[in-house]
Amino acid sequence: MKNPLAPEWLQAPEDLNDLNKKIWPESAKRDSSGEIHIGGVGVSELASKFGTPLYVVDESEFRSRLALVNRAFTQPAREHGIAIRMYYAAKALLTTDIAGWVEQEGYSIDVASGGELAVARAAGFEGSKIGLHGNNKSLSEISRAVVAGVNSIVIDSEQEIERIASIAESNSVVQGVRLRVNSGVHASTHEFLATAREDQKFGIPIDQVEDLVAVIRSHPSLKFLGLHSHIGSQIFVVDGFVEAARRLLSLHAKLSEGEEVPELNLGGGFGIAYVENEKPINIKELAQRIIANVVSLSDELGIKPPNLCFEPGRLIAGPSGVTLYNVGTIKDIEVPTEQGSANRRYVAVDGGISDNLRFALYGAEYTSSLATRSSSAEPVLSRVVGKHCESGDIVVNNTYLPSDLAINELIAVPATGAYCYSLASNYNYLGRPPIASVRDGQSKLLVRGETEQDMLARDEGYKTGLADES
Ligand SMILES: Cc1ncc(COP(=O)(O)O)c(C=O)c1O
Repeated sequence: MKNPLAPEWLQAPEDLNDLNKKIWPESAKRDSSGEIHIGGVGVSELASKFGTPLYVVDESEFRSRLALVNRAFTQPAREHGIAIRMYYAAKALLTTDIAGWVEQEGYSIDVASGGELAVARAAGFEGSKIGLHGNNKSLSEISRAVVAGVNSIVIDSEQEIERIASIAESNSVVQGVRLRVNSGVHASTHEFLATAREDQKFGIPIDQVEDLVAVIRSHPSLKFLGLHSHIGSQIFVVDGFVEAARRLLSLHAKLSEGEEVPELNLGGGFGIAYVENEKPINIKELAQRIIANVVSLSDELGIKPPNLCFEPGRLIAGPSGVTLYNVGTIKDIEVPTEQGSANRRYVAVDGGISDNLRFALYGAEYTSSLATRSSSAEPVLSRVVGKHCESGDIVVNNTYLPSDLAINELIAVPATGAYCYSLASNYNYLGRPPIASVRDGQSKLLVRGETEQDMLARDEGYKTGLADES
């Protein structure tokens, strides 16, 4: 009988050892002993070399996703003379090595803070391939972006127009800018991931756009490149993107009267599968539909179809990452139900919300697997929790793990490449985990783990010796 605590969508797997290709990197495989290998490297080797928790990024998966997504848009666009600029959304996952892969695969990069800009620049990204976002950029962030020669700054409020114009003027440059529009499209995703509903902080309401573009155009130090829309994240329904494109294109056509508007940026937000019942978005089909719609609507509006920009993050980074944890404690809890009670197993690992905030933030579901061996034991409904002082410290809310899972074994949580490392914290003074890349049987440390010394080094009391005395 199904455990009544299991959500409706979660079935006990027929084979607990299966690594579903929709969720795991293509390279993830079990060897003859059942140990998981990613990018040709065994998880035991990775854990003993770098420790746990460990973020593992499959470089080949990351690169091939960059290439696939780029092709998905470029091929249908080319037939219509539309140029495509792909920005990788750095907020999903960024290190200097990863920025290097992004650059080598021909992408531009979208940064959303001075810190992300610094990493992209440190990786050697030219300003002309960087776009700056953010709903409240500081003067220093704007100034650094202008000096770096970024190709575009996405304006998110009326106040930013003057700020960017005066910084560009004092640097004697003409700065490319876009205007982020709140299209009002209600993307079907978690409320905190939807960014184009009316009642939220991003963008300019559609009815104010024409006036603000006129203000932008009145500044000789600004060059208006076009409109921007990002309707949200982890979206599976193609219609939301098509509708946003339709709304923005009508505005784009009006703004093109008398003065060319070269581009339209439709943002990112393409959904991936985290658990069995989710189907990753078909990016080829999505790209074809968006482009076909842009072409036909441009025809109707009597304008040349604009060049298009996109900003995928999760779709590239998410499925490329797997987190490894060591199991510390296992508890079986009898939970009251309508029929009586049922068992939920709590598997506590050596990380938690400090390395994966996504369940706490959005109720995001994951799956997990015993990583060091295969098992033919019974599947047990389990909750993978962390070691923090919060009952919401949950990494995987609902998963089946084998009943013979033991203390000190490794478990792996797939699809953790996006918005895990980048949302990590030092809660309870846990150091943020290292990131290692794997490829062709080799592993490489991308970012070392944070140590207690790293954290204490920022503590002024420690520097003056006070902490030592207490
Ligand atoms: C403006 C903008 N572009 C792109 C992205 C990337 O979204 P995703 O990782 O869902 O593709 C985000 C994510 O928040 C964003 O705010």
